[in-house]
Amino acid sequence: MQIVNTVCELRRAVKIWRSAGESVAFVPTMGNLHAGHLQLVRMARKNADRAVVSIFVNPTQFGAGEDFETYPRTEREDQEKLTGECADLLFQPSVTDIYAPDAKTTVTVAGISDWYCGASRPGHFAGVATVVSKLFNIVQPDSAFFGLKDFQQFTVIKTMVRDLNIPVEIIGVDTVREPDGLAMSSRNGYLTDDEKRVAPKLYQSLCAARDVILDGNQTYEEVEQRALQFLQQAGFETDYFSVCRGSDLTKAAAEDVDLVLLAAAKLGKTRLIDNIYFSR
Ligand code: PAF
Repeated sequence: MQIVNTVCELRRAVKIWRSAGESVAFVPTMGNLHAGHLQLVRMARKNADRAVVSIFVNPTQFGAGEDFETYPRTEREDQEKLTGECADLLFQPSVTDIYAPDAKTTVTVAGISDWYCGASRPGHFAGVATVVSKLFNIVQPDSAFFGLKDFQQFTVIKTMVRDLNIPVEIIGVDTVREPDGLAMSSRNGYLTDDEKRVAPKLYQSLCAARDVILDGNQTYEEVEQRALQFLQQAGFETDYFSVCRGSDLTKAAAEDVDLVLLAAAKLGKTRLIDNIYFSR
């Protein structure tokens, strides 16, 4: 696996593949790779001749008081894992490679960026959309792979690509879970042993809510309130639990068929998010 740190080196490597007629798939990450990321890399490899992975802890998507400084950076382990998955190239730029000190342009996907996680993390999705569009311009892949655990992020990126005519196919990959159901996340490492025992209840609340919706005996408001109550009793500090339309994440109406349940809650200092999507 080639490891490059600058935009120039990255472009040189991709140009050589392109002139040989090869296709390129891309997996953007912030590192601290777990089985969920490695699944994205496997899918990328299947989908194209070359798989590029980026590791960049993007400062613009962290708010004041969030964990940018302490976000786990596990460079050597990540490189070993990517070599094991036969990724072709790892792009590991520094902040100054990505952001000019006097940068004046940002990308914002209106509306959806302000809801759910966007309401509690103002500016987060503008940071994500900006860095992902920059990485797309740098790598110029044919396709890019994102975990569906971050369903709102996935929807923001799909909307951005559609609205800006960015010629990259966006592919969502199912959430990889621990045997107890907890969605894999780089932030799970922050959980204490006690919190690890409680954390799977987030996914349990989503599964229970889905089953109640499929039974059809409760309104969506009732389903949301009961799930929030269940999580609070289990020890979570809840942020939101929402029954949404799968296509655009607006509030679901009774006639909607494709639904996604989005949930976010804190356990101690750790913010967990998860979701489940299904058709009625
Ligand atoms: O999901 C992530 O790890 C990040 O939000 C992403 C897409 C790599 C952008 O920094």
